Amino acid sequence: MRIFSGIQPTGDPHIGNYSGGFRQYARTQEQGEAFFCIVDLHAITVDYDPSELRENTLDIAAMLFATGLDPERSTVFVQSHVAAHAEAAWLLGAMTPYGQLGRMTQFKEKGALQTLVSSALFTYPVLMAGDILLYQTDIVPIGDDQRQHLELCRDIATRFNARFGETFTVPEGVYPEAGARIMDLQEPTKKMSKSFGTEQGKVLMLDDPDAIRRKIKRAVADSGRDVRHDPESKPGISNLIELMTVATDDTIEQVEARFDGHGYGTFKEAVGESLVELLAPIQARYRKLRSDPAELARLLALGAEKARESSAPTLSAMYERMGFATL
Ligand code: AMP
Ligand code: TRP
Repeated sequence: MRIFSGIQPTGDPHIGNYSGGFRQYARTQEQGEAFFCIVDLHAITVDYDPSELRENTLDIAAMLFATGLDPERSTVFVQSHVAAHAEAAWLLGAMTPYGQLGRMTQFKEKGALQTLVSSALFTYPVLMAGDILLYQTDIVPIGDDQRQHLELCRDIATRFNARFGETFTVPEGVYPEAGARIMDLQEPTKKMSKSFGTEQGKVLMLDDPDAIRRKIKRAVADSGRDVRHDPESKPGISNLIELMTVATDDTIEQVEARFDGHGYGTFKEAVGESLVELLAPIQARYRKLRSDPAELARLLALGAEKARESSAPTLSAMYERMGFATL
């Protein structure tokens, strides 16, 4: 089985990225041949700083290994190192309806924040479809916010296969049972996001223990004192319950049972401690790796080599079936 996912080297990764991303990557790598891509070509679709992009790319690489990706087992690489991704995006653009791109929620949300709404932000999901389809991917571990993009990718694959003959595996999205959509701690009806919300609203992967405890303590909870999961009427406490499942691997029911009758104060303290315990060893591994850029560069070069080899046959098939004169 082939597994593929991507993460943008933008901003500071947070516990939502861990829940929908990193944590799932480390788990799914056990199930087959896995590819994890640092999608730097996606990062230029909104306003950005070139010198930060370079550093952020290495930051994310170190975080991917620190959260459990094994370079012997998984292919971890940078999107711009494998030219096939940009090429596939152009070819697949011919199979993508303009109207469907205009309906993408992420385009509308991110577009509203930009002074220059680039055409790259509009075609972003086509690049993402190419990322996935080039590897004959069976499953894509992602968070809930990527559901619409994955559906579009499936549509593109199906349309291409019908038009030019069976070329792509049509991939399935894999979403975590709890924690597919971690909410902002200050505004629990909005998702925790690198690009929106305040510092107080997110637990960052590199926050120190005191910051984590403080943010959880001040998280907006709801009235009442029942630790019960009910996102509709209790978004704040439900989000903290989901964070607890992420930190401890317990189920929602187990967390509810353990804190039944204890009140919010005790519960919040426990959530803070569990997150500190989860993140401390990750942060230690991260610091060690991040302080060795030569080793990171070596690992990424290895990943790029493997990714080029694995994507080449699909890209050639695309050119050939679409009718390009081949050399
Ligand atoms: P990004 O940082 O946008 O590249 O996202 C990397 C991964 O984290 C993707 O699989 C997202 O779906 C996931 N993700 C981002 N924000 C959240 C969130 N608030 N809750 C759960 N998953 C998330
Ligand atoms: N769009 C994804 C996000 O913002 C990142 C991404 C790019 C991705 N290419 C991908 C995720 C391919 C999964 C598969 O989170």
